[in-house]
Amino acid sequence: VYTIDPTQLKATVQPTMYGVFFEDINMGADGGLYAELVKNRSFEFDRNLMGWTIKGDSSAVKVIDRKTERPDNPHYIKVAASTQGIMLVNEGFRGMGIRKGEAYNFSVIARQPAGGNVTLQLQLLDESGKVIGTASVQPKSAEWRKFKVSIPASAQAAKGSLAVVVQGKGTIDLDMISLFPQRTWKNRENGLRADLVQMLADMKPGFIRFPGGCIVEGRYLVNRYQWKKTVGDVDKRETIINRWNTEFKHRSTPDYFQSFGLGFMEYFMLAEDIGAEPLPILNCGMACQFNSGELVPVDQIDPYVQDALDLIEFANGDASTKWGKLRISLGHPAKFNLKMLGVGNENWGPNYVERWTLFRDAIKKKYPQVKIVTSTGTDPDGARFDTLNTAFRKLNADILDEHYYRPPQWFRDNAKRYDSYDRNGPKIFAGEYAAHVPGVDDALKKNNLEAALAEAAFMTGLERNADVVNMASYAPLFAHVDAWQWAPDLIWFDNLKHYGTPNYYVQKLYSLNKGTNVVPMLLNGQPIAGQAGIYANATVNNKSGELLIKLVNVSGNSQNADLNIKDLNKYQKTAWVTTLKNAKPNAVNSLAEPQLVSPVDSQVSITGDKLAIAAEPYSFKVIKLKLK
Ligand code: AHR
Repeated sequence: VYTIDPTQLKATVQPTMYGVFFEDINMGADGGLYAELVKNRSFEFDRNLMGWTIKGDSSAVKVIDRKTERPDNPHYIKVAASTQGIMLVNEGFRGMGIRKGEAYNFSVIARQPAGGNVTLQLQLLDESGKVIGTASVQPKSAEWRKFKVSIPASAQAAKGSLAVVVQGKGTIDLDMISLFPQRTWKNRENGLRADLVQMLADMKPGFIRFPGGCIVEGRYLVNRYQWKKTVGDVDKRETIINRWNTEFKHRSTPDYFQSFGLGFMEYFMLAEDIGAEPLPILNCGMACQFNSGELVPVDQIDPYVQDALDLIEFANGDASTKWGKLRISLGHPAKFNLKMLGVGNENWGPNYVERWTLFRDAIKKKYPQVKIVTSTGTDPDGARFDTLNTAFRKLNADILDEHYYRPPQWFRDNAKRYDSYDRNGPKIFAGEYAAHVPGVDDALKKNNLEAALAEAAFMTGLERNADVVNMASYAPLFAHVDAWQWAPDLIWFDNLKHYGTPNYYVQKLYSLNKGTNVVPMLLNGQPIAGQAGIYANATVNNKSGELLIKLVNVSGNSQNADLNIKDLNKYQKTAWVTTLKNAKPNAVNSLAEPQLVSPVDSQVSITGDKLAIAAEPYSFKVIKLKLK
């Protein structure tokens, strides 16, 4: 018999408890959340015409470098038009998703410095090359100017493309050739894919951490994420190689670059839209130590520290401040109310501690109320983790960011991890975690129910220790089925569709049912952390009076759980139960079967003095009781 005492309010569960971790990995931003359909729109990839095919006389197209004049966007193309036309086809990010009946916003920055009379005939093409949408634009301007036209689509294509036929007399200069669906999240220009943002909004995440991950660090410092280069005019945001640009096996993504069309302003607005606290992570003066490990000498670190101070001003400053004024000029007078900031991602060693301290001193001096998130890294069982943990505890760090990508067994074993953590030390952010099932080769099958249940089991321990653990996020968040570098991931998508993994539903169920306070739920006086394969925790919502019980059965046996709830007679005689289960622990969702493992609602009547719950094999339940 499990006992629950909803009258004893224990730890407060922070509103930020369950959030999301976003990184441009697996084509999560460019090719994913960022709705731009044209790959290499400004010809800045290392091979300048990557993603483009020229049909017709290829000598008619020249890539021009104007590095001195425009170091932020050095390349454009000069095309000699002809009567029959030079066709430029952009392949998109593993194709372009085009929906029948929807319109697509084409834009280009163009000029015809020598006069001329050139028309751009635009065609949306399906997989077979059939034209499924047309429009044209005549960019008549001697100076660079933006031209726009909308293209209606008459049919659907999952792997479509865009053809730009340059027709007429004379030459034309083209840059920033862009195509967006008209329907984006909140129908914003330069917008985000509405279906993918909706998946995030549905989770009601407490925070969104951005922009990564390793891309914060870069392979070299020159490729680190610099937020100031990601705000303002899109055509002035310098494209760089993505840290996840790879060339091996099926994961080959040599065409992975960061356009920064999804930049810091868009991240802050996304956070605001979905009601999540923004949690930016900044480079601490160190490139990825799994790559070059390049370091900024401490006597040259000021610009990095200044970036952090300026970011806080950008988010929270008023019109009298330089960076606050910039935010306002970008159309957002309200402050973003930034409360926390990460310094470093998976950095380690004395070099990290030394640099972190310089950031900490400067940030706390100017913004004492801003909490600093500090990375203790990726190996929770190793010496590197221990050293950092000890060092940052001595330095009174606010929040320690722990990462774990481990087998399911580790997660089950570590459901008690935080029961013994120091209650007076730093708070914990379980900033990146995912159960990786050994021996599963197929990336799309790694997100199976066994992994999701191991995470659900582990999360009972996060929640039970909400006085120490203030935030948690699964990672990575998104992956394109045809262009991933890392698996498992929370949400998979192609160019038109998406699905939530069983892991997504675990995250969502926790987030939507977190409650406000932990209450004791025990078995023989002990936390429920694996006895007969059961893991459980209970919280109450002190506003609604609801009692919220999470019950995970990781075993292959049915278990009858009798819940002995104090003051049970104060609750309605019905329990609302949401169950995520499948008879097969290796069950997965897919684009073809997106809901195979998804939550199902039911009700259980309370007849005697106990609530009797049948926990099916391989199941996760959220059980809700409402006050009478
Ligand atoms: O989530 C994938 C990667 O895992 C992140 O970029 C990094 O922080 C971690 O090693």
